[in-house]
Amino acid sequence: MKVRYASEITGKKADALVFGVFEGLKDLMDKDAEQLKKLGFKGKVGETAVLPGEGNFKTIVYVGLGKKGEIDSEKVRIAAAKGIRTAKKSGAKRVVVDFPEVEKLGGKETKAVAEGIIIGSYKFSKYKKEEDGELKEIVVAGKKEFKKEFEKGKIFAEAVNFVRDLVNEPGNVITPEKLAEISEELAAKYGFECKVFDEEILEKEKMVGILTVGRGSKNPPRFIHLSYKPKKSEKRVVLVGKGVTFDSGGLNIKPEQFMKTMKSDKAGACAVLGIMKIIGELKPNIEVHALIPTVENMPDGRAYRPDDIIVYKNGVSVEVHSTDAEGRLILADALIYGSELEPDVMIDMATLTGACVVALGHYTSGLFTEDDRLANKLLKAVKETGEKMWRMPLDEDLKEDIKGAYADVQNVGKTRYGGAITAALFLQKFVDSKKVKSWAHIDIAGPAFLDSEWKYYTSGATGQPVRAVAETIIEGE
Ligand code: BES
Ligand code: ZN
Ligand code: ZN
Repeated sequence: MKVRYASEITGKKADALVFGVFEGLKDLMDKDAEQLKKLGFKGKVGETAVLPGEGNFKTIVYVGLGKKGEIDSEKVRIAAAKGIRTAKKSGAKRVVVDFPEVEKLGGKETKAVAEGIIIGSYKFSKYKKEEDGELKEIVVAGKKEFKKEFEKGKIFAEAVNFVRDLVNEPGNVITPEKLAEISEELAAKYGFECKVFDEEILEKEKMVGILTVGRGSKNPPRFIHLSYKPKKSEKRVVLVGKGVTFDSGGLNIKPEQFMKTMKSDKAGACAVLGIMKIIGELKPNIEVHALIPTVENMPDGRAYRPDDIIVYKNGVSVEVHSTDAEGRLILADALIYGSELEPDVMIDMATLTGACVVALGHYTSGLFTEDDRLANKLLKAVKETGEKMWRMPLDEDLKEDIKGAYADVQNVGKTRYGGAITAALFLQKFVDSKKVKSWAHIDIAGPAFLDSEWKYYTSGATGQPVRAVAETIIEGE
């Protein structure tokens, strides 16, 4: 599917025109408004109606933008997505999208049109015989001055779909070694440096968490380090992503209803790769390191067990209480390694706890950081991107809950309460505050993978929080 931006669409022929209108239908010709009213079309956000076209367009898909005074980028994304989907259902291959009123609003909304179209038309259909037609070409009408924003929207949306493709692939296809291969391909494409640690190097580097959790699987563990170093750099950023290619729970095996969908336990790692893709495209003046600890968590004769004690490179000893709390064990190695890079900002993202989903629901990520500025930047970014995030406390008083009986810490809290917070407090033990200026942890267990369709997302992987984190690290001071 090709998506183009054009400042001139007169004379352009297409199977369908997707036309955005506000509630009240004031800007339409009387005849069209009349017909739409007969169909009961009001112009609410994402509402669609199809009328036969004339001239250059075989059909016209009207899509609602809601009340004129209340338009924002997220509504534009929803409308663009619904409009395109309706055009596709009507059998269109070539589509022109015209949101004339939105164009008047500005660059952000123009970027949102591109995102809505590309994110909204995504489907993970690789393994299915094609059921319906494919869109071939989409031309979006808009002012020349916003072309750059439109192209930026394309880059962001394509990175999101890249992440979704990776996350949606099952555990028999994407193993830790495969994830390393994909990272190497990305590095080759954008000229990043790429180091992959196999078991021998993992031993040398004392990455005990990755080695311990990885031992139960035939698919060996890996640690991946991608780096982008521009000639002129304003700051150093480290991104860390949890890459559990399948989480069975290990010896503390998950019940079946919770094991299904655990192919998505690598969503943090994939999100980090998606952000690197955006970095590779936009080439900002910031140094960015992507760190991915990746394992498959399986029960086996060699698997790690409850009661095991491991001692990390930074001296912290950990008592294993549940082999299903594996994410924090592998992230610990990456956070120790990331601290050594002495970054200005370190952000980790992980499908870390079911407790975070209990706390915030399926659509919202949990954000943990002591840095108010970084928190505000991220929260401002999600307001624009529509990826929901909510700040949670790194409550000192809960530290008692992860104190170990025989080691410094245990990998699970003594009670279930505040499980997302105790997981974050566990991670904090491995961030060297003398070397890392600012650290944030994002628990994406809820929104990384959805059971059903939501807004412009189909069910399955969403690619969250790629857009917000990319905006946050790229945006200047
Ligand atoms: N990968 C899971 C967390 C998860 C749950 C992600 C639901 C996405 C959706 C994680 O490794 C896990 O199993 N966490 C346990 C921790 C518990 C043993 C302290 C959990 O949340 O139950
Ligand atoms: Zn687990
Ligand atoms: Zn997990």
